[in-house]
Amino acid sequence: MDIEHLRKKYQKKDNSIYNGKKIQDLLSILYHENTKFDKFTLREQGEELGLFRSQYITERSIQPFKIYNGNKKISLNTFLNNSNNNDSFLKIINNRRSLRDYDPNYKISLNELFYLFYHSYGITKKSKIPDTDYILGLRNVPSAGALYPLEIYSSLFNSQITKGLYHYQDKDNCLELIKEGDHVEELRKIINAEPYVNIKNASGIIFITGLIERNSIKYGERGYRFMLQEVGYASLLISYLLEYLSLGSCIVGSCIDDKVNEYLEIDGVFETIHAIIVFGKKKEE
Ligand SMILES: Cc1cc2nc3c(=O)[nH]c(=O)nc-3n(C[C@H](O)[C@H](O)[C@H](O)COP(=O)(O)O)c2cc1C
Repeated sequence: MDIEHLRKKYQKKDNSIYNGKKIQDLLSILYHENTKFDKFTLREQGEELGLFRSQYITERSIQPFKIYNGNKKISLNTFLNNSNNNDSFLKIINNRRSLRDYDPNYKISLNELFYLFYHSYGITKKSKIPDTDYILGLRNVPSAGALYPLEIYSSLFNSQITKGLYHYQDKDNCLELIKEGDHVEELRKIINAEPYVNIKNASGIIFITGLIERNSIKYGERGYRFMLQEVGYASLLISYLLEYLSLGSCIVGSCIDDKVNEYLEIDGVFETIHAIIVFGKKKEE
């Protein structure tokens, strides 16, 4: 799809509050549009991925290493046994592994949701901008220019609070109910996770979206790269927080993008889905 088609397609959806014209011309919006899956390209990609089961690919995928053959090497292994394996921070980061099935009887509490959202993308520090009266809210995730282009949503279907789609509102540290209801069946159709990830048993799904204009107004096209980097930082922090809470998660890479955007009630151009994290309680072993 070229940018002219794109502009026409989304003419009525421009909810840009900044410099609409400048943002509409972004190649990164065009790039993003061209990497979206619809239900056909999703299937096509699935078939292509099947080819990845060849021996050559398997051998290649178990050695993603760059080695400087013949160069001097200083081993770090002597510290392996000395490092403090009981250190709580190291335990959390070393134990994080993708979790694909969950305890169906577990209902996540509001307190756990607080930990998840506040400590990932909540405002944990306030800072006065020098020579102004403005106060900037800083988060535990670093952000290029402190522009914070991300928004966090969660669909909850096994939780102690009303089932539905929520938006984490960082300004007041609260969950805003967007729509009530059990959406698990709808989500199973538009997120390509099964049979590997058991969405039905999960507590819910976290969605990270990005508003390109928040970054591009300062950084232009490069702002898109910064936004994607920040999605990575936020996703990993959320994964670690879940580990801290004795819960677990799996990031899911494929979905029918615009169906997810519609589900989240976002325009899909200026605000788009970037990461999907299925989360829930570990099953007792
Ligand atoms: C961007 C991204 C997309 C992923 N998509 C999927 C997915 O669709 N389904 C799945 O089961 N795992 C998915 N994963 C999880 C990876 O398979 C997993 O991280 C990898 O196998 C390493 O295992 P570990 O997370 O347990 O350490 C994804 C991970 C990332 C970072």
